[in-house]
Amino acid sequence: MTTIATTPFDDQKPGTSGLRKKVPVFSQPHYAENFIQSVFDSLDDYAGKTLVIGGDGRYLNRTVIQTAIKMAAANGFGKVMVGKGGILSTPAASNMIRKYQAFGGIILSASHNPGGPNEDFGIKYNTGNGGPAPEKITDAIFERSKLIDRYRISEAPDVPLDEIGIYTVDDMEVEVFDPVADYAELMEELFDFDTIRTFLANGFEIAFDAMSAVTGPYAKEILENRLGAPEGTVRNFTPLEDFGGHHPDPNLVHAKELYDEVMSEGGPAFGAASDGDGDRNMVVGKGIFITPSDSLAVLAANAHLAPAYKGGLAGIARSMPTSQAADRVAEKLGIGAYETPTGWKFFGNLLDAGKATLCGEESFGTGSNHVREKDGLWAVLLWLNILAMRGESAYDIVKSHWAEYGRNYYSRHDYEGIDTDAANGLMDALRDKLETLPGTTFGELTVAEADDFAYHDPVDGSVSKKQGVRIMFESGSRVVFRLSGTGTSGATLRVYLEHYEPDPAKHDQDTQETLAELIAYAEHIAGIVARTGRTEPTVIT
Ligand code: G6P
Ligand code: ZN
Repeated sequence: MTTIATTPFDDQKPGTSGLRKKVPVFSQPHYAENFIQSVFDSLDDYAGKTLVIGGDGRYLNRTVIQTAIKMAAANGFGKVMVGKGGILSTPAASNMIRKYQAFGGIILSASHNPGGPNEDFGIKYNTGNGGPAPEKITDAIFERSKLIDRYRISEAPDVPLDEIGIYTVDDMEVEVFDPVADYAELMEELFDFDTIRTFLANGFEIAFDAMSAVTGPYAKEILENRLGAPEGTVRNFTPLEDFGGHHPDPNLVHAKELYDEVMSEGGPAFGAASDGDGDRNMVVGKGIFITPSDSLAVLAANAHLAPAYKGGLAGIARSMPTSQAADRVAEKLGIGAYETPTGWKFFGNLLDAGKATLCGEESFGTGSNHVREKDGLWAVLLWLNILAMRGESAYDIVKSHWAEYGRNYYSRHDYEGIDTDAANGLMDALRDKLETLPGTTFGELTVAEADDFAYHDPVDGSVSKKQGVRIMFESGSRVVFRLSGTGTSGATLRVYLEHYEPDPAKHDQDTQETLAELIAYAEHIAGIVARTGRTEPTVIT
């Protein structure tokens, strides 16, 4: 092992989900090493303990995995567990950390962002509970990265990542394991595989798009091999370094082919897709795109139909911009409803403390207390378990959910790659207006409350401020403005729009038309066109 002198980079601040940068930034000499050493320097008492390492297979994955293994050895870890081929989905990594009581894990991914020599890469640290490091740790990592002057690395040769087995790097053991087996076993424990298998065998046709990303091998094994779905059910199942040149982002823009297929006559009854690192999901039923917010609410209302949740839920947590549909389910069930800032890490404490069982975000994330990350395939399996038990179509299940609880019309408008100063200026101007808003009217809308969301963690008492501007109307409608924390170029403004409609006679309207008044209000109050020069959003989900 050797100690290498280095100088700090000033841009290693972890965002919503770890450090994300373009590959050319990560490829600079010492860049990844500095960050990994900053992670290790921010942790205590890991000597001799186990570190889980894996990634979504994108460009640079293998290189940085070898670096991380050698640095773990030189820094005194006792063992590294690494997925074969460097592959490990984010939820599977969370499971490995928990199951094998590892000290923590390093996940290499930029999630749903594109991959390739000029695209995105990322490094994220997860703690011993299997979840993303809390802000206390990510802040410490950033502080350390600004001062770092050396890192430690072994000079041992590369580990043969493609051969399952036990190896050594200096004094440290390295286990290359099958990344799918433990995860598949966990899913079999949570869900009623026999019922789902029979349901599929009886002709319920599904399609799963792995988007040439990490979920391919997991979905193949679970849906086709274990649940008996016909070969070909899982598409784009080989993880590619550049995801085939696509955005591995399961939404109506990037998973349009799957959507069109499910909507077509004769197409499958149910379709699902997941993202680069396997933690996001999109679900569509014939005749209906199920928004992530609705998906969380419907899953929560029906979770008791799956073995793992038959005893009921302790509570439901959602990120602040996620629609309030899940809150209505929690209210009816008489269980806790929690509203957290954007970022899965905020759910960790609620899950650890047993306050929440199910969590979800509008950004196509759903999960439960089975791991400490959102979990794309898990959400698909819970849907299948519910569909199999109820014997109704996804369309009918969602429609009857709305009839019972009312419908939260919901949409997110993204303005990607806008000028950072313009974006900050827009948010500052909104914040300056907040106090004057309550009581003001716009068309039929009257502002009830307006604030910059601050979260008081009920478990550890920590406070996270400035998490997004919320404007709440007397009717229950909302507009939320926030800047994305996951982008790698410029800024992305997200505008979240929500309108509550209790009347079932009005549940078949077009979402954008129903939200038109709120959309106009958002422009009126934020001046998006004038400040960003954009006349329309880049992506609407
Ligand atoms: C990642 C995080 C999520 C978060 C999402 C959107 O997927 O894991 O928790 O909701 O990014 O974050 P952003 O800051 O871009 O809106
Ligand atoms: Zn992801």
